[in-house]
Amino acid sequence: MSTIILGIESSCDDTSAAIIKDGILLSNVIASQSVHEEYGGVVPELASRAHQQNIVPVVDTAIKRAGIEKSDLSAIAFTRGPGLLGSLLVGTSFAKGLSLGLRIPIVDVNHLHGHVLSHFIRRNPDDVVPEYPFICLLISGGNSQIILVKNYNDMEVLGQTIDDAAGEAFDKCAKVMGLPYPGGPHIDRLAAEGDATRFKFSKPHIPELNYSFSGLKTSFLYTLRDAKKLDPDFIEKNKADLAASLQRTIIEILLDKLKKTVDLTGVKTVAIGGGVSANSGVRQAIADYCARRGLKAFIPERAFTTDNAAMVAIAGYYKYLAGDFCHYDEVPYARITI
Ligand code: KG4
Repeated sequence: MSTIILGIESSCDDTSAAIIKDGILLSNVIASQSVHEEYGGVVPELASRAHQQNIVPVVDTAIKRAGIEKSDLSAIAFTRGPGLLGSLLVGTSFAKGLSLGLRIPIVDVNHLHGHVLSHFIRRNPDDVVPEYPFICLLISGGNSQIILVKNYNDMEVLGQTIDDAAGEAFDKCAKVMGLPYPGGPHIDRLAAEGDATRFKFSKPHIPELNYSFSGLKTSFLYTLRDAKKLDPDFIEKNKADLAASLQRTIIEILLDKLKKTVDLTGVKTVAIGGGVSANSGVRQAIADYCARRGLKAFIPERAFTTDNAAMVAIAGYYKYLAGDFCHYDEVPYARITI
């Protein structure tokens, strides 16, 4: 008999539902929330309300697109955390209600595990997936971590940011440049036309495998502030070079620690995940580094870099196969680590 998992993701500002059948993705529906754009960041209460409006049509569409019936489902996997509590509650409550109605189990998924396991989402049975152990560079709006992935449920954080995440560095610097939120994709686009060697920003000296991005942000801010005193149009005239130089610096910071991790562990497979892994420069830099070092690189499809339910469904699929279900009295967590 087939194993069919409905995945539900509602940890931040994307409502998503996906269906995975025997490890193969049948559908992945994402409703993004434009309501936050005018505020320059996600407004938690508005996010919860939008999830509430979106969740029924999104799940319904995912089931229809997969060509299955609700009664075919084996289990429902949902993101239990980390994330915004009100948003998580919508997905969690919905998953519990539907599971009671259908008399099938629920499986709770750590959102960060989902990002890491997104490399196991297959569209076809012969798609190649990583072998354990592998190193995953998890870079998103809330996290910058280097993870040693030993199994689907056994992950060790070897290093992480001590302040801002890589995505925050992109977003906060983009905000200083007057770009819309989230700024990462705008920096990516502008960087393609700029001179990445034009500006130098400070790089951190953090011990071991940890990251820091707040010094870079401050150095970026001061460079712009001083330059604007001399020329009020400085940002407008130099935005492509600023974006390219910022992106290069972030990539150098990320790669420096990744290289150290590879040297220390001797692991031969490297994967990236999280919103920032959509960045063209990051993707190219990781692919080039892995090719030079003879490592296997796993770069996710862009659709699986930002929040999506396909990664929740695949993480839930493995837990389901292991009989690792969730009790109805479990509640969401705003903060959990790997
Ligand atoms: O994983 P994600 O969707 O969720 C959160 O952690 O919230 O990551 C969102 C982050 C944002 O900071 C966004 O600016 C960044 O991913 N991002 C990018 C790109 N696309 C998304 N950063 C750089 N270049 C991109 N193309």
